[in-house]
Amino acid sequence: MNLVVNARDAMPNGGTLTIRTANADMRDEPVHLGEGPRAARYVMVAVGDTGVGMDAETQAHLFEPFFTTKGVGKGTGLGLATVYGIVQQSGGFIRVESEAGAGTTFKLYWPVVERAAVVKESASGPQATLRGTETVLVVEDDEQIRNLTRTILTARGYSVLVAENGEHALALAAEHESAIHLVLTDVIMPGMSGRELADRLNAAHAEVRVLYVSGYTDEMIARHGVLEPGVAFLQKPFTPGDLAQRVRDVLDAEPHPE
Ligand SMILES: Nc1ncnc2c1ncn2[C@@H]1O[C@H](COP(=O)(O)OP(=O)(O)OP(=O)(O)O)[C@@H](O)[C@H]1O
Ligand SMILES: [Mg+2]
Repeated sequence: MNLVVNARDAMPNGGTLTIRTANADMRDEPVHLGEGPRAARYVMVAVGDTGVGMDAETQAHLFEPFFTTKGVGKGTGLGLATVYGIVQQSGGFIRVESEAGAGTTFKLYWPVVERAAVVKESASGPQATLRGTETVLVVEDDEQIRNLTRTILTARGYSVLVAENGEHALALAAEHESAIHLVLTDVIMPGMSGRELADRLNAAHAEVRVLYVSGYTDEMIARHGVLEPGVAFLQKPFTPGDLAQRVRDVLDAEPHPE
């Protein structure tokens, strides 16, 4: 998703986006000394554009967290750092081909797995019965995710308030007369961050519980000090079962000793 969005951003006047897959057999490649891919079989996913391309300076810093050439409020610079982390965790690697003015192609190589796929149990069973009657304030700038989250929680018995940003959430909380038991907030939003919202809500209503949601991994977010380690966190994309489970976990957790 991030690679495709980057490709779109690189082609403000239109162009061609190409997504390609291929098998890449590197068992016979010359042995690499030190760093570099293992001699193995890989599956490649390539995302290419015919956009502005990149100069050497940009290419040197591409994968660094918070490196962005997009304006303030446009890019966080976490997209490619996340891509890098995901590929790295899977034992793969990335190659970038880019020429200023001619376009860019990112090639992601994933090692082939020879085992049969393990099918995970679906989220029926105990998860389907996770319900509650508490009031949850959902803060999310993406309208689709906001509506989906509301639908999932309402169907499980919760009273749900929704806000599209931190300012709106604070206003809702101030005028809401009864208790808000949980705030479910996106971490990175335009304007107030999820963390600032939680701090300001906590200053007003000391007992509010917070579950942070983000498309970035909790490890990345903690590493860059965006959130404290150990806070309740749910990574996007999540299933309805994941959401119901995390909401119950946080509501049922022992209160923190002050
Ligand atoms: N396809 C591309 N063509 C040209 N430049 C690119 C391309 N992809 C990435 N870049 C450059 O790399 C930088 C970092 O990309 P990355 O995805 O990490 O962050 P971002 O797109 O700026 O912000 P975010 O993804 O967090 O919204 C971009 O700001 C841009 O300068
Ligand atoms: Mg990006």
